[in-house]
Amino acid sequence: MGLLIKGGEIVTVGSRASADIYCEGETITRIGRGLDAPPGTEVIDAAGKMVFAGFIDPHVHIYLPFMATFAKDTHETASVAALIGGTTTYIEMCCPNRNDDALAGYELWKSKAEGKSACDYAFHMSVTKFVKETEDQLTRIVKDGTSSFKIFLAYKNFFGVDDAEMYHTLTLAKRLGVITTAHCENAELVAQLQQHLLAEGKTGPEWHEPSRPESVEAEGTGRFATFLENTGAAGYVVHLSCEKALQAAMAAKARGVRISVESVLPHFLLDKTYAERPGVEGMKHVMSPPLREKKNQAVLWNAVARGFVDTIGTDHCPFDTEQKLLGKDAFTNIPNGIPGIEDRVNLLYSYGVKTGKIDLDRFVDAASTRAAKLFGLFPRKGTIAVGSDADLVVYDMDYRGAVSAKTQHVNCDYNGFEGMKIEGRPSVVTVRGKVQVRDGKFVGERGRGMMLKREAIH
Ligand code: URP
Ligand code: ZN
Ligand code: ZN
Repeated sequence: MGLLIKGGEIVTVGSRASADIYCEGETITRIGRGLDAPPGTEVIDAAGKMVFAGFIDPHVHIYLPFMATFAKDTHETASVAALIGGTTTYIEMCCPNRNDDALAGYELWKSKAEGKSACDYAFHMSVTKFVKETEDQLTRIVKDGTSSFKIFLAYKNFFGVDDAEMYHTLTLAKRLGVITTAHCENAELVAQLQQHLLAEGKTGPEWHEPSRPESVEAEGTGRFATFLENTGAAGYVVHLSCEKALQAAMAAKARGVRISVESVLPHFLLDKTYAERPGVEGMKHVMSPPLREKKNQAVLWNAVARGFVDTIGTDHCPFDTEQKLLGKDAFTNIPNGIPGIEDRVNLLYSYGVKTGKIDLDRFVDAASTRAAKLFGLFPRKGTIAVGSDADLVVYDMDYRGAVSAKTQHVNCDYNGFEGMKIEGRPSVVTVRGKVQVRDGKFVGERGRGMMLKREAIH
């Protein structure tokens, strides 16, 4: 049975047009005005609404053993939450730690998703050590369609790599034509500052930010860029949080380094005073890099508007209140992370587009198209075109509501954006031609999602 999305305003990067979209099977096959459709076609009235390509979250954690616990979501819960919020594809960080075997880790992460996700998904493969079998294993993983790496310059002795390992990873990435994403903070400085603060009796969540100040992130960003420059590899800074780090990335870009930048939802809407709230309320807002001084928010919005920040992801990583309390005696034990997968699109639309900070073009680009291009998914994903997957979001700009843990689908007992008003939400969301969401409710097929195999394009 076909699917006809009728009379909406189709918004893609560089174009807006009133037209119908006809989908046959999993694919968009016709776009035009007044399209006819065979009997039995499912028709969705999109008049008065905008139609976007399904949004892409380029940075999520779903299965994640980390800081003595596990992130709370499964692919069943995270994918439903993603879809309700308009995200039809996510890229999960596959994160075996330094003691794990990379290939075994990759198979484990795949097994956690297979047949479970209601939306499509892919992986960034973390390289958390570089030993004799690494080259062969990573080559096999890239051949399997996972064509992006992840390195952590932070999290010493767990996920973190040293400079030699970063060099070998980037050299291999360059040879294989894959892009390397990087968490950029200086691990040694963080470790030393943490011990110094704890020794002074500074144990609360408000000390998390001073233990990883902006200069520590700027150093990591600059060092990553220098390694890109000297290996010729393509790189992508994840969850950039502040002006100093942005300057380091932009300085590298200006001298021709192949570097792209992601920032994530919390850094646009929350600031460090959230983590300074007493007790567990502060702990709920502990993530890395940490929430920063408010003045950085305007810098980040402006950088998105001008295309200096390429993408906006979430770094979705839910830990509930009980897990956050693992850090009640020392901020260094608070599991780092905050959920966001369900709210990203609506909050960016409400606080970015509606307030005039970014235009619709950049909204669509930063929240889907640019990620599709950087990570080898375009034009199958990230745009509305004949031949693209029929992942569509019919967006109701008249909807009014608020973010709340009480109504969310993410598996977490709090929402870091609690109470924020939203002005718009998806009324229909499709995944490869099948309606998965209607008006905030999941109505589709669980387990429909498939792993997306991606070419090495860098
Ligand atoms: O605080 C964070 N960001 N938690 C998830 C792990 C990471 O660094 O991305
Ligand atoms: Zn990170
Ligand atoms: Zn992350």
